[in-house]
Amino acid sequence: VSLKKFNTFGIEATANKYVKITSETTLKELFNDQAFQQKFFTLGGGSNVLFTRDYDGLIIHVANKGIQHFIEGNQVFVTAAAGEVWNDLVWYCVKHNFPGMENLALIPGTVGASPIQNIGAYGTELMHIFYSCRAFDTQTGEYVTFTNEECQFSYRDSIFKKEHKGRYIICSVTYKLSLFGQINTSYGAIESELEKRGIADPNIRDVAEVVSHIRVEKLPDPSTIGNAGSFFKNPIISKTQFINLQAQHPDIVHYPMANDQEKLAAGWLIEQCGWKGKAIGDVAVWKNQALVLTNKGEASGEQIYNVSSNIVDDVLGKFGVELEREVNIL
Ligand code: EPU
Repeated sequence: VSLKKFNTFGIEATANKYVKITSETTLKELFNDQAFQQKFFTLGGGSNVLFTRDYDGLIIHVANKGIQHFIEGNQVFVTAAAGEVWNDLVWYCVKHNFPGMENLALIPGTVGASPIQNIGAYGTELMHIFYSCRAFDTQTGEYVTFTNEECQFSYRDSIFKKEHKGRYIICSVTYKLSLFGQINTSYGAIESELEKRGIADPNIRDVAEVVSHIRVEKLPDPSTIGNAGSFFKNPIISKTQFINLQAQHPDIVHYPMANDQEKLAAGWLIEQCGWKGKAIGDVAVWKNQALVLTNKGEASGEQIYNVSSNIVDDVLGKFGVELEREVNIL
């Protein structure tokens, strides 16, 4: 089976076996399948994966659908099937006037992937609206529920990337939103775009539209240029290491964090190493955002991976900071 249309990098790779899951029952049935017992990988929108070789196992494509909500006092619980497109869920909430997701508009991928890497953008993270998820335990064949706390969320991280990596298949996610939630326009780019549009008192639709606009301007559209969004995480370093770095690079972009740590803008570090807009064969570093690697056409996963390794080496050499890949490498 060709995986080209199942990964937003548009990489040509094959899998031994592919199965599309449209209901929880199919997943239960699949549990007895031998292919499943050997080696599998769960795929949602394919927007956070790089295939560097053919996959010698089973690809489980989660594609169940459905969104429901129920209101309880000032709160609304929205439950979406894992196969729903994330941005469709955002717009479902915007249309119903449920605040809380608008800053996360236009993030590629599916609902099921949203907790795994605790998606975040423009001042919001999933962990602030996540209530629970229902997941299939591939070790026991049973369904279980994870609460927010159990997911152990942190910046671009959760239990599903750590000790439970690969074990659970998320089937649906419930988000908890406050009907009178505050709009968050603190992110500089949102503020200035609202001002440009002359919107002084924005509603959630305004915010969703502005965020979508900023993303379109800054990030390549995966439907025309293969990419998986940020290829690396923004590195988090100790305050001590940061102070030393800042002494050598006074204009270094950084965000203070809890516990005496600082987050650096990986895009800035990569740009300083001269990579922004640079192309090697069909692999290119995006011209407007150095954190994004793109496939200009026929790049292989291996070529993209090799460029990412060169970037890691250069950033380590220049700044002594090791970038961590955000994209899953297969
Ligand atoms: N910057 C540069 N050069 C670049 C890119 C960025 O100097 O090529 C600097 C800019 O000066 C800016 C700072 O880095 O001040 C931050 O840039 P930006 O606002 O674009 O955000 P980011 O930290 O690069 C993160 C997320 C994005 C998310 C944006 C907006 C990560 C790994 N990435 O990027 O998420 O959209 O913030 O909130 O945390 C994704 O995960 O796929 C993704 C696109």
